[in-house]
Amino acid sequence: MKTPGAFQAIRGWIVNWVYRYYEKKLSNSVKNGQIPRHVGLILDGNRRWARELGLDPTLGHQYGFEKLKEVLQWCWEIGIKTVTVYALSTENLNRPKEEVDALIGLAEKAFNDVIESKEIHERKVRIRALGRLHLLKESLREAIRRAEESTKGYSDRRLNVAIAYGGRAEILDAARKIIADVINGDIEVGEINEETFAKYLYTAEDPDPDLIIRTSGEERLSGFLLWQSAYSEFYFMDVYWPELRKIDLLRAIRTNQRRQRRFGT
Ligand code: FPP
Ligand code: MG
Repeated sequence: MKTPGAFQAIRGWIVNWVYRYYEKKLSNSVKNGQIPRHVGLILDGNRRWARELGLDPTLGHQYGFEKLKEVLQWCWEIGIKTVTVYALSTENLNRPKEEVDALIGLAEKAFNDVIESKEIHERKVRIRALGRLHLLKESLREAIRRAEESTKGYSDRRLNVAIAYGGRAEILDAARKIIADVINGDIEVGEINEETFAKYLYTAEDPDPDLIIRTSGEERLSGFLLWQSAYSEFYFMDVYWPELRKIDLLRAIRTNQRRQRRFGT
């Protein structure tokens, strides 16, 4: 007679097999469709995920960071050229000091890791930080500078990290720069249109995002890419960021492909 342990093991094996089969099928279906050129990721739910497991909430961010590395691999495998990640909003900087310090420490590690990352250099990923970087401490700004510098020659893929970022702040910063250029005589007021204005945003060189994904059941943008998302598709999912599976990402893209097909005819 089978023991309960053996039964669990067989069940686990079957579930795993079904999952892999479904993931492969979904992946093939997605690869046959139009791949979004630019995907925005709002990673949300790190602390709730940790709390529900009885862990310290800042541990949720560590798991969230590990998940981000995994998700980026999936995005690159799928063929998404540009990914923008909402790592830290200007509001996030007002969280308790201990949490902000932990987040800033993770971000610093992330940018420092880029310089040595085999994956980033093999895939020729250009890294850029978007936001009011002057609000960040010098050691993080230095890590950002070095990461940007070490990848500036790459053009196969782009990874934008929105950090100390706010969409309204971005639009205001663009308006200030454009006014300064008008005063300097570099641009005429009559030349300012959507296209020229977009060149003053942090994302000047990127196409607008085709798809923006937010985890954790929250259904809002929280200031993410406000200008750029005017025509983006949104996909909100209930899972917390650290528990996101590849099939969740694939489903988001498949839904986007279906919507595109429906609206395009
Ligand atoms: C949202 O979960 C997540 C954040 C505010 C921070 C995400 C940042 C990282 C994982 C660090 C990675 C850094 C870089 C530079 C890539 P939440 O804290 O809002 O969780 P909750 O909604 O459950 O409270
Ligand atoms: Mg949140």
